[in-house]
Amino acid sequence: MTATTDLLLLVDDNPTNLEVLATIVTDAGYEIAIANDGESAIELLEYIKPDLILLDVMMPGIDGFEVCHRLKSSPPFAEIPVIFMTALADPVDKVKGLELGAVDYITKPFQHGELLARVRLHLKLSHLTQELANQNCCLKEMSEDLERRVQERTAELSQSLHNLKQAQAQLVQSEKMSALGQLVAGIGHEINNPLNAITGNLSHAEDYVRDLLHLIELYRQKFPDPGEEIENEIEEIDLDYLSEDLPKLLNSMKVGSDRLTQISQSLRIFSRADNEKPVEFDLHEGIDSSILLLRNRLKGKGDRPEIQVVTEYGQLPKIRCYPGQINQVFMNLLANAIDALEESFADRDPSEGNPPTIWIRTKLDTDGKAIINIADNGSGIPAEICDRLFEPLFTTKPVGKGTGLGLSIGYQIVVEKHGGTLNCFSELGQGAEFVVALPVK
Ligand SMILES: Nc1ncnc2c1ncn2[C@@H]1O[C@H](COP(=O)(O)OP(=O)(O)OP(=O)(O)O)[C@@H](O)[C@H]1O
Ligand SMILES: [Mg+2]
Repeated sequence: MTATTDLLLLVDDNPTNLEVLATIVTDAGYEIAIANDGESAIELLEYIKPDLILLDVMMPGIDGFEVCHRLKSSPPFAEIPVIFMTALADPVDKVKGLELGAVDYITKPFQHGELLARVRLHLKLSHLTQELANQNCCLKEMSEDLERRVQERTAELSQSLHNLKQAQAQLVQSEKMSALGQLVAGIGHEINNPLNAITGNLSHAEDYVRDLLHLIELYRQKFPDPGEEIENEIEEIDLDYLSEDLPKLLNSMKVGSDRLTQISQSLRIFSRADNEKPVEFDLHEGIDSSILLLRNRLKGKGDRPEIQVVTEYGQLPKIRCYPGQINQVFMNLLANAIDALEESFADRDPSEGNPPTIWIRTKLDTDGKAIINIADNGSGIPAEICDRLFEPLFTTKPVGKGTGLGLSIGYQIVVEKHGGTLNCFSELGQGAEFVVALPVK
């Protein structure tokens, strides 16, 4: 099929040879183009693209070798198979021709059958090579396509894995928080009634004690000589000390019960069940309640002095938010700061000065955002993990101490739920600073 449409270029300076050659190949069904010397063969190649070239070696002007050399160094023609033709008597170096890229030799005078057999063979080889190159090209495209698809799929998968991890973290945390929230709200509520009884009665008790002490004082003035039994009893109970100490004691009970009231209030502020809709909330109230709940952890332990909390509150309007969640963010940031301070002060000489401190500053920035800045002078964060802090489950703390959820949940709450930003600034050894920005509207 292909043989009949293949185009052969015949190049020979001898017209008789050309005629014989042309007759043989056209009879066999090939199309032909003819050139009488090297120059015209090369010129002709600008207009046609033969499937095979039969090229005489010995020609005036540029010889067959030179023609072949030029063809092989010019990419569009390099693939065309060239068969040299030489007369038996020609002193031609056949190896040189093959080295130049020719595929075969034919000796003149032509053997009809041999000529056609060689032409067919080389056309077939050339077509097969061409087909193979095309298939290779297809294969390369397919493999590139496949690689691209694998990459896309991998990216999709790792995105889903990331989403899944985040969803899982959120689930764990919200489960934990709702259980904790209920418990805390329950405790806050249950403490409240007995606490009310104590605080309510304490002021009466103070009044009664004051009256009773006054009465005793009156008795002592009116009856300075109550007799031996009473005098012994007065000495026994050390009445003077008692009368002085009892009011103080009652007062400290009052201070204690006031603190308990504050704590129970904080518990209730902290665990506000507010998942349904945002409400107006005073951020400072949230920060204060978180500090209060963490009070126990701020106290000095072992060699570590008490952690100072320095608050510098600016003017902030109430903001519409989910207070329970925002409190959770403050709680997580403060707990992290305490962890970092505990770690870095564990083996530090307290007399060095520079006591463990947490600074909390708030302000309204010019584009209407409430900025809450929580900084500590703890261990700081190495640059190489700064990018990973907000990843779910990323922690540097030992098993059982940290779950690696605090900041990722904080990020979700601030950024995704409230449209704010949460950023970290830190240098190793220089403490860390977390900045929460929340839109006021
Ligand atoms: N103030 C800080 N100073 C130094 N490192 C911090 C600070 N805050 C966070 N980090 C680092 O970020 C990591 C991730 O914090 P994140 O709150 O997400 O998890 P965690 O505290 O390890 O565990 P979890 O909060 O779930 O109990 C911490 O393990 C710690 O290495
Ligand atoms: Mg944490």
